[in-house]
Amino acid sequence: MNTGFNFDAKINRHAVPALKWHKMVLGTKDSELFPAGVADMDFRVAPQIQSAMQERLDHGVFGYEAVPEGLIPALVAWFETRHRWKIASETILRAPNVLDSLAVAASLFSGPGDGIIVQPPVFFDFFDIISENGRRVIRNPLILKNAQYEMDFDGLETLAADPSTRMLFLCNPHNPVGRVWQRDALERLATICRRHDVLVVADEIHGDITFSGHEYTPFATIDPKNCISCISPAKSFNIASCCSSFTVIADKERRRAFQAENSRLTVNKNNAFASVAMMAAYREGHAWLDAAIDYISGNLELVRARLADLSGVRLIEPEGTFLLWFDFRELGLTPDDLDAFLRNQAKWAATRGLSFGPEGAGFARVNIACTRAALGQALDRLADALARDCGLG
Ligand SMILES: Cc1ncc(COP(=O)(O)O)c(C=O)c1O
Repeated sequence: MNTGFNFDAKINRHAVPALKWHKMVLGTKDSELFPAGVADMDFRVAPQIQSAMQERLDHGVFGYEAVPEGLIPALVAWFETRHRWKIASETILRAPNVLDSLAVAASLFSGPGDGIIVQPPVFFDFFDIISENGRRVIRNPLILKNAQYEMDFDGLETLAADPSTRMLFLCNPHNPVGRVWQRDALERLATICRRHDVLVVADEIHGDITFSGHEYTPFATIDPKNCISCISPAKSFNIASCCSSFTVIADKERRRAFQAENSRLTVNKNNAFASVAMMAAYREGHAWLDAAIDYISGNLELVRARLADLSGVRLIEPEGTFLLWFDFRELGLTPDDLDAFLRNQAKWAATRGLSFGPEGAGFARVNIACTRAALGQALDRLADALARDCGLG
């Protein structure tokens, strides 16, 4: 399909200090590694975003700015059109980034030593935010059943019942396992959390990227009162470095407290480029995002087809996100040996499964938001390495 967008273009990301391709991540000697770690895309942004930013640049004055009038309406229209979530404008707060909102929520709505539930394997920064804010990580691991992950509701009920458990960090869709949580699962989670007065902080940064047949359900459409939603166009539009995010809080008192904390921390400046990039994304980005999801789906097809011919590695079928969860447990390697195999033999810089919790041992997270050519070469290298070093093929 010719969408008019060229996701096959090979863009030199070394021309800027792109973290995914940077020596900090890849090491100094490993320029030939497949950069499959940091969660952004190798694609150029939607032309509408680029021209809006160019126009802003051409204006030439970059003094203090308010939020442009069109931004919040554009965001509201986006979520209503794409996700059937009607967000009341007054419940939306700007935030520097999603992780900042998680940290503010933890420090405001739980006390030192309180427990915050996470469902590993899960995005590693959740653990750090909780610990660095002096809270306890309460682990309710997902259950891997028939090659798919599910929430452990019995475990959740028990852990949520502890009076020192105050909060749950929900990852919806779930990084790294790619689940797009269905309404019934979210309803069960909502019921348990509400019963035990556990506040749900929903990180929904990956919500826009779902594969055919799977639909993202914003948690706030289930329990708006008992939730703080953290949303952002950073992943969907590949604008993580020039973007800010939004926190949606329906509960008035909680929202006021959040706003007061933002004032206390003086996180109330607006970046001109973030504003125009986000507004262009939400106003004019539909066709680009649809095309990007198509392209990523094509990459997923390629991975499926290649892995079908290989032993020693299996794919946990994703429902959304551009992050794949590869299961290498059949190889029987220790986590360190698996890392060494991927890095030194397959020449992959994937993210170590253990970073997402002990449940990630034997797994690796692989970012497929790259050109199909790069992915194809990486898969060839993996096949060769499995045949050469593990006697598999
Ligand atoms: C689940 C999840 N939340 C948050 C982030 C980071 O968001 P931000 O850059 O807005 O803090 C990431 C980035 O990989 C992510 O995967």
